[in-house]
Amino acid sequence: MAKRFNENHQENLQKILILDFGAQYSRLIARRVRECKVYSEIVPYDISVEEIRKINPKGIILSGGPASVHVPGAPTRGKEIFELGIPVLGICYGMQLMAKTLGGEVAKTGKSEHGKTKLFAKENTLLFKEVPLKQNVWMSHCDSVQTAPAGFKIAASTESTQVAAAENLSNNLYSVQFHPEVVHTPFGMDILKNFLYIACECTPSWTMVSIIERSIEDIKERVGKNRIICGLSGGVDSAVAAVLVHKAVGDQLTCVFVDHGLLRKGEAEQVEDTFRRNFKINLVQINAQERFLKKLKGVTDPEKKRVIIGEEFIRVFEEFARELKDVNFLVQGTLYPDVIESGTKDAAKIKTHHNVGGLPLKMDFKLIEPLRSLFKDEVRAMGEELSLSEEIVWRQPFPGPGLAIRIIGEVTVERLEILRQADAIVTEEVKRANLYRGLWQSFAVLPCIKSVGVMGDERTYSYPIVIRAVTSEDAMTADWAKVPYNVLERLSNRIINEVPGINRVAYDISSKPPSTIEWE
Ligand code: XMP
Repeated sequence: MAKRFNENHQENLQKILILDFGAQYSRLIARRVRECKVYSEIVPYDISVEEIRKINPKGIILSGGPASVHVPGAPTRGKEIFELGIPVLGICYGMQLMAKTLGGEVAKTGKSEHGKTKLFAKENTLLFKEVPLKQNVWMSHCDSVQTAPAGFKIAASTESTQVAAAENLSNNLYSVQFHPEVVHTPFGMDILKNFLYIACECTPSWTMVSIIERSIEDIKERVGKNRIICGLSGGVDSAVAAVLVHKAVGDQLTCVFVDHGLLRKGEAEQVEDTFRRNFKINLVQINAQERFLKKLKGVTDPEKKRVIIGEEFIRVFEEFARELKDVNFLVQGTLYPDVIESGTKDAAKIKTHHNVGGLPLKMDFKLIEPLRSLFKDEVRAMGEELSLSEEIVWRQPFPGPGLAIRIIGEVTVERLEILRQADAIVTEEVKRANLYRGLWQSFAVLPCIKSVGVMGDERTYSYPIVIRAVTSEDAMTADWAKVPYNVLERLSNRIINEVPGINRVAYDISSKPPSTIEWE
């Protein structure tokens, strides 16, 4: 298999490795390091020393974790990692592991610390250089280091933990019992910066401009004179990936947008506008509305709908690919969270997800995944840097199977039209109320039941629309959004008055779990 994209473009990159001991905060550590403009990557805690040498990081951070170093089978590491000559920072469990491995003493003191804690740092330390010596930090631990290993100096204490931070300057080893990565440690970023910039000698050079430049160079080198295609979904990831690749290889790129007829209002036009008109990117729009609708005729089961749409999508794409000559590369908008999670996911299947990321790979394309090392907010920042419109960059997620899984019942042209209109009103009003960016998603659902109403003096017997709006960090869990009554009132009035076939509006007040965000 060809070298993955990020393996190439990260050569010569100053890198911090975060060894993940199962902390809930590992990703946050990675994010914070990146916010300091230094590239960071999360790797399993048992990554081999040879691999670390190969990666050649400027520094290593040992994350926290739920285990106790005293429990048999707790994740551990040998001494070698501390003897590589690479600066190491241990956080919480990472600190305890470092202490135990290097001959210090870790004890269950019976005095656990959780929450905001006053920290007293010593003078003339590296970690607390130019940081207030008295400060609040966030603690969350039971065990603590009683005696720091030989060669270490205590850098900070709290009332109940004498060794709350320690450092060994000659060996470039550092440790903190508290969590510098959380916002409740107000000077946490300064402490991290001291580790990154002084101990690891990193420079804050991982900026969006430099990421884009590196990516462009790398794409050029990999693609050469070959042709490359990119499936567009209308979402931010594939859009940013496409524009980036276009910057690198221009007309060698062709974007493909499959209109399956299950899109939101104006979506196809927006893709056309952005890519063909603004960016002058070769764009092929495949109008496949009829064939999708035909396949979906009579289907009401949500999983069947998903499978049909996913498969049909692949068929359409394959047919298109077969017509293309000399195309060797396919762009995918894979993000870093997908990379971290892949292989570790063993959750029960709730829904069969389909998106452009699920394109058939047996087509012999080599993959270009230019966003493989980025978090979503970094992709958005890249989109802004590449001058993509705010509308695309800040677009709420939209599922691959589109409106089909928001029509609860058979998908028909009439129902799609009703839902599209109602959905457009939801988006318009949510934006007008300035709520759009704060919501993970806000949309309309059409359950195909009918209820009685009265309009003018006439009895009506029509569909309801359900409004769904949720807040979420990552879609794994979600809360129903407390949208103000006046906004809900406007939504209800407008939908009932403007969308023929609707006589009732309901608001979904269920969170995930136990519900899911989409209805199907
Ligand atoms: P659920 O409904 O499972 O959705 O709570 C979680 C998030 O995933 C989105 N979603 C999908 N995205 N293809 C996608 O690309 C899909 O098939 C799909 N199904 C759900 C959903 O909109 C929410 O953001």
